[in-house]
Amino acid sequence: MKDFKWKVEYSTGNEAIDTQHKKLFTTANSTFSVVEPSKKLDKIKKTILLLSQYTGTHFSDEEQYMTSIKYPKLEEHRKIHTHIVSQLSLLIKKIPTMKIGEIERELAYFVQQWIINHIKEEDKKIFAWLNSKA
Ligand SMILES: [Fe+2]
Repeated sequence: MKDFKWKVEYSTGNEAIDTQHKKLFTTANSTFSVVEPSKKLDKIKKTILLLSQYTGTHFSDEEQYMTSIKYPKLEEHRKIHTHIVSQLSLLIKKIPTMKIGEIERELAYFVQQWIINHIKEEDKKIFAWLNSKA
């Protein structure tokens, strides 16, 4: 079982964005919480959809924020968001042909590779830039 935890090192220094990032972690974690085997697939599907919705909302809020501060690398960052969203849609499309174990593995990879690494690397750049200006 996976347990993704938000860590202080992921902090961007922006409270609103950190709060949304924390919620992404909670949503991702709920996919892996233990339920009765007969309900497992149904629950995984529901939480992946929720994760996908929430990721979309968060990315658009983050893009609005980058626009408001005139972040010079907005377009580059937006492209990465689009790519992440399409990776998740691909996974969602494949779900009907996958076994539960495979779905869990791919989802864990997605969260680690695309959500956590994105927060640690790309999102931090926004605030490093902001601080360098101050
Ligand atoms: Fe981002």
